[in-house]
Amino acid sequence: MASQPINYLAGEPPIKLKPKLSLPRILYVLVVLPLVAVYLGIATIIRELFIGGDSLLDLIGRFRLRSNSGLVQRSASKTAVFVAIVRYVGSHEGWTNDTLSRHFIPSELVRAIDITKMFQPKYPISLKRSGALMARTLAGDRLILNGKPKQVVLLGAGLDTRAHRLKLPAGCKVFEIDIATTQAMKKKVAAEHPDEFKNQDVQYVAVDFSKELFTDKLAEVSDFDFGCSETVVLFEGVSMYLPWPALEQTMKLISTKFAPGTIVGMDVIDDFFTEEGSKRRKSALARRLMRLVTAVGEPFQWGLPIGKTAEDVFPPLGFNLVQTVDPADVERDFLKIDGEDTPFARVPSIFHYIVLRVK
Ligand SMILES: C[S@@+](CC[C@H](N)C(=O)[O-])C[C@H]1O[C@@H](n2cnc3c(N)ncnc32)[C@H](O)[C@@H]1O
Repeated sequence: MASQPINYLAGEPPIKLKPKLSLPRILYVLVVLPLVAVYLGIATIIRELFIGGDSLLDLIGRFRLRSNSGLVQRSASKTAVFVAIVRYVGSHEGWTNDTLSRHFIPSELVRAIDITKMFQPKYPISLKRSGALMARTLAGDRLILNGKPKQVVLLGAGLDTRAHRLKLPAGCKVFEIDIATTQAMKKKVAAEHPDEFKNQDVQYVAVDFSKELFTDKLAEVSDFDFGCSETVVLFEGVSMYLPWPALEQTMKLISTKFAPGTIVGMDVIDDFFTEEGSKRRKSALARRLMRLVTAVGEPFQWGLPIGKTAEDVFPPLGFNLVQTVDPADVERDFLKIDGEDTPFARVPSIFHYIVLRVK
């Protein structure tokens, strides 16, 4: 009997409670928000009340992160911190078990998130515009748990905590690859909290994708087994920050140096930011995302060109496209409340999650 292909992204949708107009919610609006507004300025409260959702989170994040913006080659990635913020809020909402991410976030922001949760226990801070980031984390978690690999490579790992918070298959090794600046922050925080960052088997490899071959570094400083086909590579939240030559080279290194059968999970976006891509229709959500990443000094650099899909771009680089999840699928498979049909968070129309297998 032919074996069934694995659905790497299968899993239960998280339980998410609906917001209610309750006493805590009223107190939150009348007491907590004004206090935060004093701290951050009146614009915050106006946006929170009238634009709604995660603007509070967004503004606090930008307020803090902008203060030392610059190239990722010079200081730890701000977008990695931003994703950690989303995951910490997500842990309050039952989205992830990533409570460890609070250690990467400015402490006043952790306090703001925790206070908000006290006042709105069922709906601490809306993440309704951060659906793509939450879905991406869930997709990668499912891919590891369903794929049962012997090796996990986190390419552009940032402040990923999977090595510490997921129940990995016995003996599974994790290799975290990122630029030295971001990795230094991750290692420092992990070393400061050894009880919480209990480690399965994790090895760090510092690489600048735009200057170095990550496979050379992986071979030099770790015991990664290039011949092992039971390998899962997660390449999340990175493709859009690399110029195409660096991304193409990285993908070719995976397909030529890693064993056939290796599985790669990654997110890609449509190009809507280059001169050519700007002709594409884009949502307000996509534009907002672009403003945010540009403001913190890490603008988008690559997206699927107009008229091309992942099927056109990745198979010529040595992969089979196993699964592709477009925005409507993401909302259906990852972002539902208690079995309802309406998604509780929005995913910009430019976002896709794909699963590739090395040929
Ligand atoms: C948005 S973060 C995503 C982090 C993580 N994968 C996640 O989803 O939380 C982008 C990551 O790409 C890394 N990065 C950006 N440019 C890089 C480069 N040239 N070489 C290596 N890593 C880079 C950053 O350090 C950062 O950790």
